[in-house]
Amino acid sequence: MKHFPKDFLWGTATSAFQIEGAANKDGKGPSIWDAFCQIPGKVDSNDTGDLACDHYHKMKEDVQLMKNLGLQAYRFSIAWPRILPNGRADKINEKGIQFYSDLIDELLANDIEPWVTLYHWDMPLALEFENDGWLGDDISDLFADYARVCYQHFGDRVKNWITINEPWVITVLGYGMGLFAPGRVSNAEPYQAGHNVLLAHAKAVDVYRKEFQTNQKGKIGITNNCDWREPATDDPKDIAAAQRAMEFFLAWFADPIYLGDYPKCMRDRVGERLPVFTDSEKALLKNSSDFFGLNHYSTMLVSDGSEGLIETSVYDNSGMAEDQMINLSSDPEWKKTAMGWNLVPWGCRKLLEWINERYDSPEIYITENGCAMDNEMIDGKVDDQNRLDYIKTYLEACHEAIENGVQLKGYFVWSFMDNFEWASGYSKRFGIHHVDYETLVRTPKASALWYAELIKANTEV
Ligand code: GAL
Repeated sequence: MKHFPKDFLWGTATSAFQIEGAANKDGKGPSIWDAFCQIPGKVDSNDTGDLACDHYHKMKEDVQLMKNLGLQAYRFSIAWPRILPNGRADKINEKGIQFYSDLIDELLANDIEPWVTLYHWDMPLALEFENDGWLGDDISDLFADYARVCYQHFGDRVKNWITINEPWVITVLGYGMGLFAPGRVSNAEPYQAGHNVLLAHAKAVDVYRKEFQTNQKGKIGITNNCDWREPATDDPKDIAAAQRAMEFFLAWFADPIYLGDYPKCMRDRVGERLPVFTDSEKALLKNSSDFFGLNHYSTMLVSDGSEGLIETSVYDNSGMAEDQMINLSSDPEWKKTAMGWNLVPWGCRKLLEWINERYDSPEIYITENGCAMDNEMIDGKVDDQNRLDYIKTYLEACHEAIENGVQLKGYFVWSFMDNFEWASGYSKRFGIHHVDYETLVRTPKASALWYAELIKANTEV
């Protein structure tokens, strides 16, 4: 494979709820995902995050595995209720602070840059009950207070902050389709929740910039997720539908940050269900990300649905389909991952170029990319050539995007290890390390060994 620029950052990613376990140890409060897992039928096999990979107790071992990879950066998230059991900043759980502080020290001692996400979906349950979670008016201020606690305790050592992971998933799957916590189904709440998510991001960035950034000299941004949407035909209606789909997926959350407001096509179609930013909120949001964090997995074809929607499966991720009036489909030639997601590397290149064009060449970090594949462990080894091919072909597409002028600065594989895959529980494995959920033994898969070689080859040049 071709070489990447020499300052290109190589990482892997995880999130707190998916790996930590220790769900109610050492003073941690419950999160909406702890509760959601208790509702029968919400999660495959009714799996929970109680133990997960027990990373809470195996942190040092995990950092050694990262070191073995030659990893330059590790993206993890802080569990808000581990730091603030009731969600509020007036009661700090010192043991929670200690855990993340130790993790950060351990990473730095091994020359691995911590990339810290403040919110990867585990809203403190107390705030869900008392403040309606992301629907509540004061949630953005509560989030900014929590962020301040994190900057205060970790900002001397953490130089890369991500406020929120994937507003689209939080809102569409959590408040539109009811597939993820808090499990609500509505055609209005996703817009309300999304509005508050954006304000929470902006306020947390404002706190960092005003109170910490000058001294601590770090970067802060948000991570959005987006699949690529390719027009199904060259009919202008399908081309317009694909553009609309991109705006409802990514521009919903990126336009307010880069361009100052929601996309016009959303305002026209969603009407009063889409909240309005005040002028001061717009000002707070504009330019509130030092980099463009992107999680990308897959691609779908789009055709215009103005004359009627066909039923799509949940994996089609069409979210708010009646507002967009699009139909999604797949090319039957495309290979699929174990999630049923299409494997289309060129979609990654097109997406990067779309972002580059619309938002005037921002610095982009792919903060997640990877795949679930069904591979068995045989004789102590997992030969996941399929995952290796996925990562390799997606990285080739990234390389092309860079050659075409995209400012792509780094790449984080999802995931460092197999983990709790939300509604799919432990049935889907995204890791480049295999986790045996009985013994908790970790084993590098073929993809991990290959990734280590790739990092080495790129950093030596
Ligand atoms: C992302 C999410 C991760 C992981 C991944 C694979 O949406 O941020 O937590 O689950 O998808 O589905």
